[in-house]
Amino acid sequence: MRPARIIIDTDPGQDDAVAILLALASPEEVEVLGITAVAGNVPLALTARNARMVCELAGKTDVPVLAGCDAPLSRPLVTAEHVHGKTGLDGIELPAPQMPLAEGHAVDFIVETLRREPAGSITLVTIGPLTNIATAFRQAPDIIPRVARIVMMGGAYFEVGNITPAAEFNIYVDPEAAAEVFAAGVPLVVMPLDVTHKALTTRPRVEAFRALGTRVGTAVAAWTDFFERFDKEKYGSEGAPLHDPCTIAWLIRPELFTGREINVEIETEGSFTLGMTVADWWRVSGRAPNALFIGDVDAEGFFALLTERLARL
Ligand code: RIB
Ligand code: CA
Repeated sequence: MRPARIIIDTDPGQDDAVAILLALASPEEVEVLGITAVAGNVPLALTARNARMVCELAGKTDVPVLAGCDAPLSRPLVTAEHVHGKTGLDGIELPAPQMPLAEGHAVDFIVETLRREPAGSITLVTIGPLTNIATAFRQAPDIIPRVARIVMMGGAYFEVGNITPAAEFNIYVDPEAAAEVFAAGVPLVVMPLDVTHKALTTRPRVEAFRALGTRVGTAVAAWTDFFERFDKEKYGSEGAPLHDPCTIAWLIRPELFTGREINVEIETEGSFTLGMTVADWWRVSGRAPNALFIGDVDAEGFFALLTERLARL
């Protein structure tokens, strides 16, 4: 089977970094055409820097990395240094990137790639706020029907919110962008907290990363050691949810995941529910399904795949 040809839209963040590494380690299933940075976990200058550092860590400096939107469509930026640290990749010191940013704006790269490549041949993998994607759709509505699908990390239903009682971070940062993307009619595969909170970095799993004895294994173990302190304290869980790599793992081995085709709407006006993904899991609204909303994962299989692929780098 031909690899999925993807653009990764990201706000690195340690879990974004692991997702990017998994993608770059899996050329049989995933061809990364480009990485577009967006403001989210940390400001854009850092997410654009971090994305390049991850590519260099993987030894894949031929992948174009572009900087995108530095703020949500119509709200001030909310960041998450309390989770990811000041740099967004706290946990290990990595060298400053040598590879330059690719010329141009990330939104233009998304538009131009979708216009150039055959319709239905490009998948967008979004693992940060949806500002770049919504901006591209506003700028060039003609590309919307050309997108094969969007595989995104975002939202929550049974798990409720992680940045507010009702909202997950990626959606909360730019709810207007998320509402436009969910309404665009592009096939969506959504990895909400409901599934990512089942992909937890237990001690044995982190030690398996470290036992790889490589720069990548050491970095991923150090990132998860840092990243997990927040979730362990907040949820009393055994480890941290590896949110973003679930998107890439779905492209490689979709059978690891189960979910439902349901309607998902985004709250953009609620005083207390802003950014909530109103997921009609029980199909009571009569609204047309617009997303494959993933609810479960074979966690052992996920971590076995992740560890095996990271060992390749
Ligand atoms: O809520 C989790 C999401 O927010 C992940 O993508 C994480 O990297 C942060 O961006
Ligand atoms: Ca992210």
